[in-house]
Amino acid sequence: MASSASNLWVLLGLGIAGILIMTKKLKQAVKADFGAFIERLQLLPPPQPLPPKAPHPLTGLSFAASDVFDIEGYVTGFGNPDWSRTHEPATRTCTAVAALVDGGATCIGKTVVDDMALSISGESKHYGTPTNPASHARIPGGASSGAAVAVAANLVDFSLGIDTDGGVRIPAAYCGVLGFRPSNGTVSLSGVIPVSPTLDTAGWFAKDPSILRRVGHVLLQVPFAAQRNPRNIIIADDCFRLSKVPVDRVTQVVVKSIEKLFGRQVLRHENLGDYISLKVPSLNAFNVKQCNGKERTSRITLLANVMQILKRHEFRQNHNDWINSVKPTLDPAISTQVHEDVQLTDSEIEKGHSIRTELRSAINTLLKDDGILVIPTFVDPPPKLGAKEILSEDYLIRTSTLSSLASMSGCCQVAIPLGIQEKFPVSVSLIARHGGDRFLLDTLQTVHASFVEQSNVAANSKSSTNAMTPEASAEMAKEKGNQAFKDKQWQKAIGCYTEAIKLNSTNATYFNNRAAAYLELGSYLPAEADCTQAIDLDKKNVKAYLRRGTSREMLGYYKEAMEDFRYALVLEPNNKRAGQSLDRMKKLFQ
Ligand SMILES: *[C@@H]1O[C@H](CO)[C@@H](O)[C@H](O)[C@H]1NC(C)=O
Ligand SMILES: *[C@@H]1O[C@H](CO)[C@@H](O)[C@H](O)[C@H]1NC(C)=O
Ligand SMILES: *[C@@H]1O[C@H](CO)[C@@H](O)[C@H](O)[C@H]1NC(C)=O
Repeated sequence: MASSASNLWVLLGLGIAGILIMTKKLKQAVKADFGAFIERLQLLPPPQPLPPKAPHPLTGLSFAASDVFDIEGYVTGFGNPDWSRTHEPATRTCTAVAALVDGGATCIGKTVVDDMALSISGESKHYGTPTNPASHARIPGGASSGAAVAVAANLVDFSLGIDTDGGVRIPAAYCGVLGFRPSNGTVSLSGVIPVSPTLDTAGWFAKDPSILRRVGHVLLQVPFAAQRNPRNIIIADDCFRLSKVPVDRVTQVVVKSIEKLFGRQVLRHENLGDYISLKVPSLNAFNVKQCNGKERTSRITLLANVMQILKRHEFRQNHNDWINSVKPTLDPAISTQVHEDVQLTDSEIEKGHSIRTELRSAINTLLKDDGILVIPTFVDPPPKLGAKEILSEDYLIRTSTLSSLASMSGCCQVAIPLGIQEKFPVSVSLIARHGGDRFLLDTLQTVHASFVEQSNVAANSKSSTNAMTPEASAEMAKEKGNQAFKDKQWQKAIGCYTEAIKLNSTNATYFNNRAAAYLELGSYLPAEADCTQAIDLDKKNVKAYLRRGTSREMLGYYKEAMEDFRYALVLEPNNKRAGQSLDRMKKLFQ
């Protein structure tokens, strides 16, 4: 009787009664644990239900939680010793941790977070920087540094972190593990210390995509939907161009996997900055001066600036009183953020709000229910430990640039490791619409093995060829051009074909395609010149004759135009367009 009563307690999530808790401070063992843990403890799951009921979904898995999640009986430290000193132990365990334990997982400890979960570097002056298992000389990334490291070092099966402006996605990418940021509002934050409540989410790390997904099933408060394949996968070319590291390998891995799994017709390329500029008018109106007086050219960088401003504003609203009364010792990495006086007028707050709602509906419209947006997870490789740049505002903005897309829109994102390149981990991210969390986790499960396989292929071929051949790069540029052409973006298409021609100037198709785009723009002279080039390279190119004929007709060179159409008819006697054009011009001369 007693045990069924306590079972009920647990099931209702009212407390952790009946759960054995033991604790062990880990002062000297820190190195052995890669410095990931603040405190060891043990929250055991309730007994398995009796058959025929299914066992708990997370049976057999261990996890840790960043030190912002309340666990009954422990002080939640928030990465700052003065915070720990001035706060009482939590009186109940937060909803997320309780749900995971109820779901069958065992919580084994609390992990290090950046000071007040504000930084993005993972360097902690207070508790020591957890060691990045993927690259010991480089920072692990934050705010949820210890949680990422605990998974990367195989100390737990999964872990919980806080993601405000990249706090799960960045350390996942730096440490080479999977990291998931749910759509905002879909995982309970009750019992989690707020950083900036409207940007905050509780995310999680794992190495195994099926564990990432199983955790999602327990935590996500969104309806189940039938599993389906993505019908629309959009590669944000401009986001990849922001990256300082060579990204060809990353896009190749993604493109090859997608083509193999879903067919090439689902793939599209998009310039996200242009799209945002069009669909998020409030961003264009945002006073750039607010962004530390620095002009920001890229729309997405501007988005990151706005996010940092809103984040600080909300952080102050929550924590200013404590900071003023306690005057805590702060990590140098966050002191600017804490002390800079962000004064936002009501209208600026209003604008920030409009930017977010517009962005969310723009991305939802772009992706609908079955679309995926592909971006790199970060733009610069993780800095070396102790590098000066880590403390700079510029580093914060650059590093949170691509994170701002999901943070500001509230959409969900998963960061996927793609192996090691030039000694640091590479990561690509998939984003789905707000509320598309289960679809995203299902998609990850579908694509993961292929991503791993393709990135191994790429890593191995890299040593022999070192890069893509010019022919392959030219073909890729042409594909982008065709996509732009399909989207009626003529100028962009011309740019892509020009790039293809630069890479391989002996392929008739590139000239011929560029001619088609020039024709659409009414630029008949360059169109004619391109057709001539194409014909020189390929004497039997019917399309090139037709296009040159049209250009010449528009330019008034009727005789030459008629010759072209006649020749096209020689090559292809049944060509309707050639026949009609010829008839039309013959009439002109009657
Ligand atoms: C979620 O994100 C949206 C869009 O960015 C924002 O407007 C909203 O306030 C957020 N909701 C919560 C509950 O934080
Ligand atoms: C020339 O272009 C066509 C069409 O894009 C392509 O199929 C072919 O492989 C290209 N040839 C070379 C050698 O790159
Ligand atoms: C370009 O393509 C042509 C055939 O379309 C091929 O003969 C040539 O070797 C290719 N490579 C370069 C670098 O031009």
